[in-house]
Amino acid sequence: MKKRVLSGMRPTGRLHLGHYFGTLRNWVKLQDEYDCYYTASDLHALTTEYADTSKISENTFEMIGDWITVGLDPKKSVIFKQSAVHQHSELFLILSMITPLGWLQRCPTYKDQIREINNKDLNNYGFLGYPVLMAADIFLYKANLVPVGEDQLSHLEFTREIARRFNNFYGEVLIEPAAKLSEAAKVPGIDGRKMSKSYGNSIFLGESDDAIKEKVKNMFTDPLKIKKDDPGHPDDCAVIKFYKIFSESSDKYPKFDQREANCKAGTIGCSLCKKQLIEMFSEFMKPLADKRKTIISDKAYLEKVIIEGGKKAEECAHKTMTEIHKALKF
Ligand code: TRP
Ligand code: SF4
Repeated sequence: MKKRVLSGMRPTGRLHLGHYFGTLRNWVKLQDEYDCYYTASDLHALTTEYADTSKISENTFEMIGDWITVGLDPKKSVIFKQSAVHQHSELFLILSMITPLGWLQRCPTYKDQIREINNKDLNNYGFLGYPVLMAADIFLYKANLVPVGEDQLSHLEFTREIARRFNNFYGEVLIEPAAKLSEAAKVPGIDGRKMSKSYGNSIFLGESDDAIKEKVKNMFTDPLKIKKDDPGHPDDCAVIKFYKIFSESSDKYPKFDQREANCKAGTIGCSLCKKQLIEMFSEFMKPLADKRKTIISDKAYLEKVIIEGGKKAEECAHKTMTEIHKALKF
């Protein structure tokens, strides 16, 4: 029997290369080795977007289109929308009965977000309960492994603690999942900070050649390297980080080590370096952009994927919920 994998992503807007190289590339790889469930967690999106829900549904649709564009395969993996499987909400409620408030208040992600997000009122029960909903996502599918980034590790720890607490009260029903940390390539934004939609420094999946050209031109490079012969400091340059990613799969241009050495020695200038990055970048993006266009415009296909994925997910969630009701002596 294959081990079960579950992961989720909030539909908060168009996906960028940070999502791809940090998360999705791994999800795609896992499909062959594991029994994978991937959920678009629109209920999680609601914890912060409750005051304006107008974009959640469209974002969900497009996000699932992007997943398929990069290689998630509905024939291999169960791809579904969290809100379509009502058991998520039900288990969230049941788990909330046994969740000590302190565990949630102590959660580092909670404290960070309350501090960082100032344009929304997050003093809500649902937002505090974010990790409870995530635990419900994981338990319903009896997932053994949860591929996540480091930022989600505290949620995974919380999930394991809740599993133990539940099983102590009611018997061994829930599985304690392990985190599967992805070999994520850290993708900087064009300004050198972490790529994030809120920084406005993202390169989106399926961007046009023109847009890529413009963004690479604006990319942050070593401010001390002005002329070609100036010795460069690749550590202070966003271009080389992308160069590293794309040159791995291209034989047209020097490999990363070589480029780094040339930059330091002052034997390559930034404009040529950027020009070559643009070419590699476009080669990578063009097929994705074409595929994305086809998939996103085929609404009927995407709807079918979402409905069928929802049915498969619900089947599994229903079974687990039945066991949970029995354990609770309902
Ligand atoms: N909280 C995750 C994030 O923000 C998304 C998510 C929702 C998730 N449900 C999940 C991740 C279940 C793993 C398992 O990235
Ligand atoms: Fe960056 Fe390339 Fe310029 Fe060096 S030569 S600073 S790696 S853009």
